[in-house]
Amino acid sequence: MKGKKILFILSGSIACFKACEVVSALIKNGAEVQTCATKNALNFIGEATLEGLTHKKVYHEMFESGSYLKHIELNSWAELTLLCPATANIINKIAAGIADDFASTLLAANDYKKPFLIAPAMNVNLYLNPATAESIEKLKKRGVVFIGPETGLLACGVKAIGKMSEPAEILKAVKEVL
Ligand SMILES: Cc1cc2nc3c(=O)[nH]c(=O)nc-3n(C[C@H](O)[C@H](O)[C@H](O)COP(=O)(O)O)c2cc1C
Repeated sequence: MKGKKILFILSGSIACFKACEVVSALIKNGAEVQTCATKNALNFIGEATLEGLTHKKVYHEMFESGSYLKHIELNSWAELTLLCPATANIINKIAAGIADDFASTLLAANDYKKPFLIAPAMNVNLYLNPATAESIEKLKKRGVVFIGPETGLLACGVKAIGKMSEPAEILKAVKEVL
């Protein structure tokens, strides 16, 4: 993993705190990690945490000086894209090709020629919703590798499928793909 360029995108899930552990583990394994976040992800974790872990600016704005072409450049730069955690919203947006903010535009500009991994995290009803299930199937057909979700205690208090895989599992999946 040493020197591997990983584009790490976070969306607005309670599992963002676990995703920070994944970012940290990738860095400790020698990867170069560039994070991007949806605006909703930044309600769960601070930009300072991600910049502090990666020593790189966190991209989240489409129309900001220094970011204008980043949705194209970062896809060329990356050797692997990891969307972690992935909300139902962003999974459905990627499947439909919706590009209405920085993170979704970046994901819409992915050409699926390099490894693309997604670690979903969501309430069971969001996960089993037919729209989400269809989107996951669509993305699998495009070659996207899904890590989890697992069955476990969800933030809503029920034990069901939807829990994001543990950081060690996600790290293992990244290592295997690389
Ligand atoms: C406390 C809290 C926890 C949430 N956790 C999740 C989650 O784990 N998965 C999910 O799909 N949505 C979750 N949501 C809802 C998303 O944040 C919401 O659908 C949002 O529009 C997602 O935007 P994004 O995909 O652009 O980040 C949560 C919302 C709140 C308030």
